[in-house]
Amino acid sequence: MDQAAVLRQLAGKTESGSGTKIITITSGKGGVGKTSISVNLALAIAATGKKVLVFDADLGLANINVLLGVIPKYNLYHVIKGIKNLEDIIIHTPEGVDIIAGASGFSMLANMGERERNSLLAAFDSLTGYDILIIDTGAGVSSNVTGFTLPAHEVIVLTTPEPTAITDAYGIIKSIVLEAPNKQIKLLVNRVTSSLEGKKVAERVVNISNQFLNVKIESLGFIYEDENVSRSIRRQKPFYVLFPKSRASSCLNVITAKLLNLEVPPDAEGSSIGGFFRKIFALQNSGD
Ligand SMILES: Nc1ncnc2c1ncn2[C@@H]1O[C@H](COP(=O)(O)OP(=O)(O)OP(=O)(O)O)[C@@H](O)[C@H]1O
Ligand SMILES: [Mg+2]
Repeated sequence: MDQAAVLRQLAGKTESGSGTKIITITSGKGGVGKTSISVNLALAIAATGKKVLVFDADLGLANINVLLGVIPKYNLYHVIKGIKNLEDIIIHTPEGVDIIAGASGFSMLANMGERERNSLLAAFDSLTGYDILIIDTGAGVSSNVTGFTLPAHEVIVLTTPEPTAITDAYGIIKSIVLEAPNKQIKLLVNRVTSSLEGKKVAERVVNISNQFLNVKIESLGFIYEDENVSRSIRRQKPFYVLFPKSRASSCLNVITAKLLNLEVPPDAEGSSIGGFFRKIFALQNSGD
């Protein structure tokens, strides 16, 4: 049985019922691989038969579409302005995952009127059929970033073995924990040169978080430093598609298997995509 088939079977066994599981990928330090991992992890999950939507919530430059070599005509801005429906701006990529381009238009969310906000929420609620929504955020502890982590069912904090990235990973974990002490936070170490290095970095962050923040962070494992990642970026195709047998792709298969064991909490509000955004608004309204 090939690896995808094994994953598919595993996914079938751990099916958690209805609702979209929301996974937010974030980091303290920038440039650690969030966008690359978001896109390729989405593909690895999609390979198990799950329907995956990736939302580019980086308020800076749009990235996800660049990695996939697509040029979105519309983004959330057009939805908020009532020019387009949410379904119209979803890009169905040939690779098998759908994406929503947030880009700068998404910063409009904070300044939307009640009516615009409600129609957007209704639009997100009407998006059915997705098993997983992956949110790719920007880096750092600004509320634009943490705002996307709080309503997620689980947050993946990405780091590299670099000391600055590790320190900043702890920083973002701390800010998440301060706002949401029970949030499920998982750690993923990217760009490791050995499994031992991956384990050591993960252990350090897990232990420090346990000791100083009293939280249990689960290690999702690691992804090898792999030149196929940058090679695929240059070709504007995901490495999971171009180099399915690469070390980085194999790591993603292992991580996918771990992720799919998780269950969507029985929280009806939070289980819908609309509920996710409702929580973001509640956060912004509370003066964050
Ligand atoms: N496992 C890896 N092996 C080799 N290079 C990698 C790996 N992961 C990421 N990179 C490289 O790191 C760079 C940054 O990746 P990416 O844009 O995904 O980071 P990011 O965290 O989304 O950045 P930002 O914070 O700016 O949004 C890319 O050029 C990519 O080639
Ligand atoms: Mg990015």
